[in-house]
Amino acid sequence: MSFDLRNAINAISDVVQNRPPPLREFDQIYMKVADMVIQAEYVARVFDNKDIVFVGDGDGIALSAAHLKAQNVVDYGPKSITLLDFDERIVKSVQRFGEKLAPHVTISAELYNVADPLPSGHFGAFDGFHINPPWGASNGGSSVTAFFERGSQATKENSLGIVVIADDPDLPWTQSVLRDTQSRAIELGYVVAEMQPQLHLYHLDDNPDLRSCSCLFRRIDPACMDPSSKPLDPGRLQNFYGRNSPLKVKYVRQKDTLNPDRESDRLYTLETMEGQ
Ligand SMILES: C[S@@+](CC[C@H](N)C(=O)[O-])C[C@H]1O[C@@H](n2cnc3c(N)ncnc32)[C@H](O)[C@@H]1O
Repeated sequence: MSFDLRNAINAISDVVQNRPPPLREFDQIYMKVADMVIQAEYVARVFDNKDIVFVGDGDGIALSAAHLKAQNVVDYGPKSITLLDFDERIVKSVQRFGEKLAPHVTISAELYNVADPLPSGHFGAFDGFHINPPWGASNGGSSVTAFFERGSQATKENSLGIVVIADDPDLPWTQSVLRDTQSRAIELGYVVAEMQPQLHLYHLDDNPDLRSCSCLFRRIDPACMDPSSKPLDPGRLQNFYGRNSPLKVKYVRQKDTLNPDRESDRLYTLETMEGQ
């Protein structure tokens, strides 16, 4: 791997500038810039010339990987990227930036909540997936496997999946979630192809030293693939974003201001799931 560091950081800086403010209540906690460069270059390399789905991506790793290619910082990268996210602010910001990258990488983004079955048009459609889900400290990793299952359902037989989750050997919950994620991945027909431990840091005031790893899974047994995509079991929605913080919001909606010269005082509204 060799690339111009200044050009790479300037490219990622464009993406950072485009991101909406993170909402802590939904575990949106953004990755630090140097670690975004590392992850985006890795994504561009692993998914070179492939059609990729990101299930959630507040960090902007999808756009970063595409922008590194578009700016000729690297001469590899995904052929197309589709983002599925429940936050309309993120979806729209990716669509907006993605238009500029169109000659180099095809970018699309749409609203989707992992509690819902995967839209049929995306089932088995992609070469690989990328997730950085809620890390599952209070739900035994169930939020991680929920995102993993959607990524798995969205990909073809010989797919790859990159999973970014907490990894701190001194925090037992991170190691349990890592083990349980690998165990679920094996049930779904994957092996761990690569593991980069304790790789990234985040803008997380109450735990600035908490790191995540990047784990690459390769599907070796298509017989274990889910035959269909079903709603998440209601029991799995509990503690989804932390203790007593269930998944009950269907979409975060962007609130557009009528006066383009002024910010509205609240930039989003919450649309709850039916029956919540
Ligand atoms: C949970 S955050 C994890 C932290 C990550 N560093 C970030 O801030 O993007 C990852 C992404 O998942 C999205 N997300 C959260 N809950 C979701 C849900 N129920 N369905 C789909 N996407 C979701 C968030 O909007 C965010 O873009």
